[in-house]
Amino acid sequence: MKPLGIPRLDKPGEFHDRVLACCRLKPGEIWTDPVNGHRVGVTDATDAGAVHSLCENETPTLMIHDPPYNIAVGRSTTDALSVRGLSEYIDWCRRWVSSSLDVAAQNAYLYVWTGADQQRGFQPLPDFMVMMRDFKQWQARCFITMRNQRGYGTQRNWMFVRQELLCYAKGDPGFTVEYTDIPKILRGYYKKVGGELKENLERGKANTIRPGNVWVDIQQVFYRMEENVPGAYAQKPLKAIRRIISSSSAPADTVADFFSHSGTTLLAAELSGRKCITCDIDPVFAELTIRRLEHYRKTGKTGWQTENPFPEVPESHLPRAR
Ligand SMILES: C[S@@+](CC[C@H](N)C(=O)[O-])C[C@H]1O[C@@H](n2cnc3c(N)ncnc32)[C@H](O)[C@@H]1O
Repeated sequence: MKPLGIPRLDKPGEFHDRVLACCRLKPGEIWTDPVNGHRVGVTDATDAGAVHSLCENETPTLMIHDPPYNIAVGRSTTDALSVRGLSEYIDWCRRWVSSSLDVAAQNAYLYVWTGADQQRGFQPLPDFMVMMRDFKQWQARCFITMRNQRGYGTQRNWMFVRQELLCYAKGDPGFTVEYTDIPKILRGYYKKVGGELKENLERGKANTIRPGNVWVDIQQVFYRMEENVPGAYAQKPLKAIRRIISSSSAPADTVADFFSHSGTTLLAAELSGRKCITCDIDPVFAELTIRRLEHYRKTGKTGWQTENPFPEVPESHLPRAR
């Protein structure tokens, strides 16, 4: 019988337990990358003291956080993730937003991926936005929508194809304009530039369009892509994170992500010449994050596609097709 591939790593079971036994970090421990100085911790993002220790003397100029938004996420593996309702969830968010503010540079960006568990009617986005108004230093800068190519729930509801990305700024951080690969094809209006009448294709700084705040050109990750990380259930596309990094930080800046999971932000920072400070409350995901970086350095590959990132856990411990 063929193994089905590795199961979700947040789910309890024999595979998860064996992976846990292979993790080099225990709760509270931090790994420092000997090559580029990245740091990965098994840290609770809501624990301000632990976040301080994780960051040491670094002051990130960019934070890209992707917290779980599904009330059931992680409930099975650690109690700290057991968020039961909307107000409890928002209180929990308030704590990691606050610990992020504590360590951020004077001029910094905070990006937050948010979502909804439509099937359970859990939609924390508006409450999160209202809560953020209490943080006077984080000023709302943008509300981005990333379009997923594939959705779910098509038969009984509108297909869910969007992911929200909120952007806040503290102080006055710089911004670099980004372009997509989508060619400009529409001719636009004329405008006088330096006394000369110019059509918008002539005026533009690039032949491709800017992403704006609706991103339609990013493929969501699935098992056929090289960057796929088996066992990670909530992986963000590298292209999206690299776009955020190159628009909202400068080379050699420090980028932080306190919900690392598959380590996308760490790898995107490595690929973009930034240092990354990241953590996950679950040692399994901190280990996966470190392994993904090491795997990239060894093979040049951004993920494992369908291979098992934990080959020391024998195949006999994988679920099998019946
Ligand atoms: C939605 S996933 C992040 C996905 C990530 N952006 C990626 O591309 O792989 C959320 C992660 O947050 C972690 N997490 C949940 N509560 C946490 C907490 N209090 N502190 C740190 N990490 C936490 C979970 O273990 C999970 O791996």
